[in-house]
Amino acid sequence: MPAAGIGRRLGAGGAKALVHLAGRPLLAHAVEAMQTNRCVTAVVVVAHPDALDITSKLLADEGFARVTAVVGGGPTRQASVAAGLAALPQGPGYVAVHDAARPLAGQGALDRMLGLLVEAGVAGVVPGVPVIDTIRRVDAAYRSTDIVDREQLRAMQTPQLFVREVLEEAHRLALRDGVDAADEAALVELAGHPVQVVPGDPENLKVTTSLDLAVAEALLARRRGPGNPTKAQPVAGTFRHRPMGPGEPQ
Ligand code: CTP
Ligand code: MG
Repeated sequence: MPAAGIGRRLGAGGAKALVHLAGRPLLAHAVEAMQTNRCVTAVVVVAHPDALDITSKLLADEGFARVTAVVGGGPTRQASVAAGLAALPQGPGYVAVHDAARPLAGQGALDRMLGLLVEAGVAGVVPGVPVIDTIRRVDAAYRSTDIVDREQLRAMQTPQLFVREVLEEAHRLALRDGVDAADEAALVELAGHPVQVVPGDPENLKVTTSLDLAVAEALLARRRGPGNPTKAQPVAGTFRHRPMGPGEPQ
């Protein structure tokens, strides 16, 4: 679980994974969502190096039984995922990557995806949701050129699930070739393996901006029903921002 980002667009002032949603860090929601899957035997959390201690303590306090390691992340999401892969326990033949920034992944989603992966005989299964907005291409001067056919587009989500050795190989090749991709699906495809897109969950949103946080609060409150009111907590500031390198992905 990559959780080492600093939430620049959210203005988190620290590790975004530790920002509270309904009184609990995003990371805790995300780990809990993964633990609703029977197939999940181990969870490796990749935290910002400056937030390692506080993240380990938080996970211990939550009592997450399946968290086997908390390791420091890198300057890019891909580097953080690579650090997490290196810390996986021996044994499991499949690995899922799930962003801590997605606290609302549905219960049992990974169990269903594993079934689809085995059935389809592919190296990876990734969830995608239809794109709602009309997408238009523009040129360098922002003149509109054409509309992109929305039917052919899917917005990628996590968790993304892969045959472990395929994802590990894809990361090795990316490191060798200096490739930096937005997600694991891209790396696995570059390594020459087919990836199957399956229907995602529109509620499994990624918390990127404060608007997303407000929407996530509302979705969570709706899931919990009127008897369980939720209260937004102040953002947990854990370390000061560092200047970001030019290659930091958005
Ligand atoms: N991530 C990571 N290591 C990085 C960058 C991102 O582990 N160097 C993780 C984030 O913690 C998040 C996921 O990758 O769970 C998706 O990244 P994103 O939503 O972009 O989060 P941030 O990078 O924190 O946000 P921003 O880009 O606005 O700074
Ligand atoms: Mg980012």
